[in-house]
Amino acid sequence: MNTKLSPSFDKRDLRNALGSFGTGVTVVTSGSNQSRLVGVTANSFSSVSLDPPVVLWSLGSASPSLDIFDASGRFVINILSLQQIDLSKRFSSNVPDKFEGVDFGEGLEGLPVISNCVATIECKTIQRSVVGDHVLFLGQVEKYTYERKPTLLFCQGNYLQGAEFEAT
Ligand SMILES: Cc1cc2nc3c(=O)[nH]c(=O)nc-3n(C[C@H](O)[C@H](O)[C@H](O)COP(=O)(O)O)c2cc1C
Repeated sequence: MNTKLSPSFDKRDLRNALGSFGTGVTVVTSGSNQSRLVGVTANSFSSVSLDPPVVLWSLGSASPSLDIFDASGRFVINILSLQQIDLSKRFSSNVPDKFEGVDFGEGLEGLPVISNCVATIECKTIQRSVVGDHVLFLGQVEKYTYERKPTLLFCQGNYLQGAEFEAT
């Protein structure tokens, strides 16, 4: 058991604790041919409200992609399938052109929507707040697609594949 009480937590250790919460993996995209395309691997995505339909995610404040997410006022949550682990690695790297060789189409307002995802959720930003070292985006869902196929998972710093354990 790894118990921590001090308020001056070690960041790496806190990240390990928070990373105990298993998530899916998304690539959040924005921009258009008129600006530049951006995409960031993110597991901070969460659903917030069904009526109205609102989701959230957060981006590190130092991200070079932040200006495009702000200028566009829109984002697309692309939920990755098990077959798309390479995209997770690509969009969490600093390769110069993350979209090179990536199959994607144009969504609302020309935003990039990645092909063959488990789900894609196109959103308009309705709230942006700086929270510590991240910027929190809340978006109203304007369009979505989904397919029933295995979702890529991430937990304790590793990629995982899910297996049904017990019905809810
Ligand atoms: C599984 C996984 C989840 C991540 N989640 C986030 C996230 O929610 N927010 C974030 O800012 N960075 C997250 N990252 C890190 C970014 O993907 C990485 O820093 C990327 O280079 C950011 O793109 P940028 O250079 O355009 O800012 C995550 C990385 C991985 C591998």
